Amino acid sequence: MQKIFITRKLPNEIVDPLKEKFDVKMWHSEEIPMTYEELKTEAKDAHALWTVLSDKVDRELIESLPHLKVISNLAVGHNNIDVEAAKERGIVVTNTPGVLTETTADLTFALLLATARRVTEAERDLRDGKWKSWTPMGLTGMDVFGATIGIIGMGRIGEAVARRAKGFDMKVLYHNRTRKIEAEEEFGFSYEELDTLLQESDFIVLLTPLTPETKGLIGERELGLMKETAAIINVARGGIIDEQALYDALTTNKIWAAGLDVFEVEPVPMDHSLLTLPNVTVLPHIGSASIHTRMAMMQMNAEAIEAVLEGKETENRVV
Ligand code: DGY
Repeated sequence: MQKIFITRKLPNEIVDPLKEKFDVKMWHSEEIPMTYEELKTEAKDAHALWTVLSDKVDRELIESLPHLKVISNLAVGHNNIDVEAAKERGIVVTNTPGVLTETTADLTFALLLATARRVTEAERDLRDGKWKSWTPMGLTGMDVFGATIGIIGMGRIGEAVARRAKGFDMKVLYHNRTRKIEAEEEFGFSYEELDTLLQESDFIVLLTPLTPETKGLIGERELGLMKETAAIINVARGGIIDEQALYDALTTNKIWAAGLDVFEVEPVPMDHSLLTLPNVTVLPHIGSASIHTRMAMMQMNAEAIEAVLEGKETENRVV
C-alpha cells in the first residue's frame, strides 16, 4: 500500500476517506509543528507528503525521500518548497489556488480597514481602561472611502481585493509582472510602475508571491517614496518587506502605519521591534482562515494526492 504522510493533524472527515486506499500516517498535533529532523525521519517511506506552509521542504529533505511522488501544500504560496529539486526528481507539487481567493481578499480588506481606523489599538485601549471620555481627535485614523489603493501583485487575490476597493469608491492602481488589460478596461484599474504606485497610493497592499525577485522588494528606498500618510498592508509573505526598514520608516514618520498578517519569521518572536509600535496592526497569518475555505483547501490537497498516487492527472500543479 502506498504511504501518505501528513505533517499536521487534520480533520478526520478529510483524512479518513484516504485510509480506504492508502496507508496514512499523520503528525499527532494540530498546533505543534514537526521539526525538520522529525519530518525527515517520519516521512522517510512516504509516497505522498502533505505539508503546511511552515514546513521547510528543501532539496536535502526531498532527496532523502526515495519513494516520493507528490508534495501537496496546504496553501497557495509554495515558497517553503524547493520546487526545482522536486521537478528534477519528477515529483509533482500541488497547492490550493482559487478556493481561498475571496476569503483572503476579505481578510486583506479587514486588515486594511483595521489599520486605517486603528481598530485593534482602540480595542486594546478600551480593554486597558484607557477610555476616559469621548475625545475630538482621539484615535483618529485615515479614510478608506475614496482613497487610492496600490496593489502589488495582481493575481486572483489582487483582483478580488481590487473589486472590493471599487465598492469603497477607491482609485485602484496596480503593479504586476503582466498587465491585466481586461480588468483595466472592465473595472478601470490603472497599471503603474512600482515607484509611481508607491508615491501615489494611500494604501499599499502586497499580494505578490515570495520569490528571489520579490524578496526585500519593499526596503528603505521604496518606503521613502511612500506618502507620510500612507499605510502598507502585507498579506503575502514576510520576506517581501525589509522589516528593519519598515520599523525605521514607522518610527521616523516616513509612513503612517502598517498592517501585517505575515512576518519574516513565523510565529513572530514576541520581542520583535514591530510589535512595540501602536501604528502596526498585526495578525497571525490568517489570510485564508475561514472554516469553509480551509476545508476546501484540504479537500483539494486530498484529491491531488489521490490522483497522483493513482497515476492520474491533477489540477493545481505547481510542477
Ligand atoms: C497561502 O495559502 O499561501 C496563505 O498564505 C495562507 O493563508
